[in-house]
Amino acid sequence: MRHRLSLLVDLASLLPREVDLDALLTEACRRLAAAMEADRATLWLVDADEGDLVSRFALLPEVPALRQPLGRGIAGTVARDGELMRVDDAAADARFDSTNDELTGYRTRSLLAAPVRERRGGPVRGVIQVLNRRGGPFDADDERYLRALALQIGHVLSLTTLRARDESRPGVVFRGPFNRIVGRSRAMDAVYERILLAAGTDARVLLRGETGTGKTLLARAIHVNSARQAAPFVTVDCTTLPAQLVESELFGHERGAFTGADKRVPGRVEIARGGTLFLDEVGELPPESQGKLLRFLQEGAFERVGGRETLRADVRVLAATHRDLEADVRAGRFREDLYYRLRVVELEVPSLRERGPDEVERLARHFAERFSGRHGRPATTFDPEALATLRGHHWPGNVRELEHWIESAVVLAPDGHVGPEHLPRPRALRSIPPGTGLELPLGLDLEEVRRRYVEATVARCEGNQSEAARQLGVGRNTVARILRSE
Ligand SMILES: Nc1ncnc2c1ncn2[C@@H]1O[C@H](COP(=O)(O)OP(=O)(O)O)[C@@H](O)[C@H]1O
Ligand SMILES: [Mg+2]
Repeated sequence: MRHRLSLLVDLASLLPREVDLDALLTEACRRLAAAMEADRATLWLVDADEGDLVSRFALLPEVPALRQPLGRGIAGTVARDGELMRVDDAAADARFDSTNDELTGYRTRSLLAAPVRERRGGPVRGVIQVLNRRGGPFDADDERYLRALALQIGHVLSLTTLRARDESRPGVVFRGPFNRIVGRSRAMDAVYERILLAAGTDARVLLRGETGTGKTLLARAIHVNSARQAAPFVTVDCTTLPAQLVESELFGHERGAFTGADKRVPGRVEIARGGTLFLDEVGELPPESQGKLLRFLQEGAFERVGGRETLRADVRVLAATHRDLEADVRAGRFREDLYYRLRVVELEVPSLRERGPDEVERLARHFAERFSGRHGRPATTFDPEALATLRGHHWPGNVRELEHWIESAVVLAPDGHVGPEHLPRPRALRSIPPGTGLELPLGLDLEEVRRRYVEATVARCEGNQSEAARQLGVGRNTVARILRSE
């Protein structure tokens, strides 16, 4: 029994992470089957969009999902009626539907299925079903135990991105195959597939894409779905590091290595030992440090600043950039050999506008749920006009911009109803005084065009970077970074 109670504790610890939900729920089922001495367990979810049951929403085609209409078979009946059901001899039980056995080649003998709810008396989110108990059919103890576990699983579900769309109605909405990551567009499927493939190896991955597209979030997903998940995920943000500090940040320093170094400090590489080191905005790495990083990538060896001892660390390296690294290589700003070392696998993260308006709406609803909870607002509803504005916007700042819009709308709409007046003014309507254009010579690379444009905007805002950022539809850090990039 003790074994049974501790079953879900470890699963809960995975929930704040970007884990593959199929893998998480499969693991829950595996443990549940073992604890109940059953041959296997299946978690069926009620799909609020399709109105049927789905066994999993696997991303990879080699693990197909089973589907079952509500009301059909044991799981379908439990989902519809919300009552536990027990079958002691499937072959002799008229309620049993053998379609899935025929599909999978499995032979069900005994079966126990309980409705999954977030709270007692609440709407049904799914069905947990255990099959073929060893040494005879399931008994009343098993029934009690499965009921208790079904509630715990319901709680676990409510903490994932697989949550209910509506508190009072049955079903869950599938917003994406990874926890905390929303996205079901075709453009994102390609990303998820690469993440899972890369997560199965130690290969270096270079994540590319515009600012705010989720590169950091997706890098963490690679780590938490990899064999290194229990070891640290350590980020080095290359934009915030002055050239003199990069080396000591990465590799650490010895006492007395430079003025102010009054004790030995380990670098990020050492802290990440056994885990993953994430080099965010690696394109900003100063040229002086690129050689040191290259050596570490080639040999796994490094020295602390001011130290003579050669150290080694087993670290998987991921990197991200929004820059055109090929142009940086051509311009001599980024070492070509380092570029090839970093981009063993390339992951192109699509901009939000490439994911389409349905995805924008999905993300908007996800953020609305999160922020209404956080700011103590009632559940959000969107006015059709506000929704049309969101769906039609160009999203230069990508998911991060959308996240900010929704948070501010949730705060500004205390009754939970978001209308167009709660969204930023449409940019086209903003009055731009005549004669304030910017002349740019042809032949500049796009980075340079961007920098000059941002500079001019900041100048027009009398140096106020926050105001310039607002007008440009990006975050202030982005403006600061672009101004620094030369
Ligand atoms: N697919 C997504 N689902 C949910 N939140 C997302 C998604 N993509 C990005 N976000 C959120 O948007 C913000 C920006 O993402 P981030 O990973 O920092 O972008 P980038 O590193 O590309 O600039 C973060 O708060 C992140 O959690
Ligand atoms: Mg980032």
